[in-house]
Amino acid sequence: MNKRVVIIGTQWGDEGKGKITDYLANQADVVVRSQGGNNAGHTIIFNNNKFALHLIPSGIFNPNIINIMANGMVINPQALLQEIDALKTRGITDFKLYISDRAHVVMPYHIDLDGLFEDIKGENAVGTTKKGIGPAYADKVSRIGIRMSDLLDENTLGKKLEVSLEFANILLSAKNCKIYTKEELLAVYLEYGRDLKKYICDTSMLLNKEIDFGKNILFEGAQGSMLCIDHGTYPYVTSSSPTSASIPLNTGIAPNLINEVIGVTKAYTTRVGEGVFPTEFIDDVSDTIRKIGKEYGTTTGRPRRIGWLDMVVLKHVKRINGLTGLGIMLLDVLTGVEKIKICTSYSLDGKEIDYIPADYEQYKRCVPIFEEYPGWKENITKVRSFDELPENCKNYLRNIEKKSEVNIAIFSVGPDREQTVMLKNIF
Ligand code: IMP
Repeated sequence: MNKRVVIIGTQWGDEGKGKITDYLANQADVVVRSQGGNNAGHTIIFNNNKFALHLIPSGIFNPNIINIMANGMVINPQALLQEIDALKTRGITDFKLYISDRAHVVMPYHIDLDGLFEDIKGENAVGTTKKGIGPAYADKVSRIGIRMSDLLDENTLGKKLEVSLEFANILLSAKNCKIYTKEELLAVYLEYGRDLKKYICDTSMLLNKEIDFGKNILFEGAQGSMLCIDHGTYPYVTSSSPTSASIPLNTGIAPNLINEVIGVTKAYTTRVGEGVFPTEFIDDVSDTIRKIGKEYGTTTGRPRRIGWLDMVVLKHVKRINGLTGLGIMLLDVLTGVEKIKICTSYSLDGKEIDYIPADYEQYKRCVPIFEEYPGWKENITKVRSFDELPENCKNYLRNIEKKSEVNIAIFSVGPDREQTVMLKNIF
């Protein structure tokens, strides 16, 4: 049966979605990236070569797979061309890539404004990746954004640049930052347009056609649901919605076409950037987890903050995404941890709650209430079925299922493809 499968992150990003996407991509006919830009990043090992993808979908290594960068994305054309070149110089020349004509363009002034806004926010800074993502989306909703199709027409691009630049330069000049002229950008961005023209099309029409042909479609996630502009820990979020709900809008398909939503969850939790993180802990155990799990940002290299698994978060994310299965990642990293904790609820001003308060100050005051589980010492990296897991590890997983009310579809015991155990057929 053909299927439309969504991979989403259930935490604050970096859950290991790349590995699951890479694993499932080979069973898909089309791989679609729907939102965000080069703030995302994952590493794929292909033919013993390491590739860092920030914008291009993970199906790119298979010449039979159609890869779509959909309308909900914000694309830095310079970064995209560098990514394409990096693939080509390492022999990946036979690929199918399509870019939505409606996707928005990240311009250099967006990157400058991203830094400027962070400076102005001072100690309340979001800790963005400084890739210009927020300002590019801000221009989109302000209706002054530049879209991929605009790069293909000198007149259109010129007119749009005049308007966008007027707004950007007012802000930049007020803070004595570099301002931009239409002339310096026009030629460069038209050239990017010429280089990318062969990939740009109406990807919604293409995708719907593939669906009509009965093809398997994989929507690969970027960021995590807790970074959602609507349902995340606002204002410490990204500027798009990394949820299954956003897929139809961001790709141009009908909502009832999605039939599987896999929530990728680390066996613990991490977060990069600022913002409340109730289950965060800093001690020898978190240092060991960071070291063994190689918990450093793919895009910025920043050390990730470490916390325990949070069921209040997971249940919130299940609710807004309609999860049909969980992918539990980096289970092997917990080997040797004596006592593993799961947060089951919060205490807010002395009252027990099981939801995430909208008020950020209230969320900051939430103290996690934990249950503790005995850990395991056995090496699990060669485990290839649920039954082979140590009893305490099985117990930990069963409790995650029981508490989240979502079945585990996949678990992962190491970075390699073979270290992935499927408990359910996804496609
Ligand atoms: P922005 O998306 O660059 O605007 O950053 C906003 C917030 O989202 C910051 O806390 C970033 O660290 C976080 N963020 C953005 N993309 C990712 C990602 O791919 N993984 C993890 N965190 C991310």
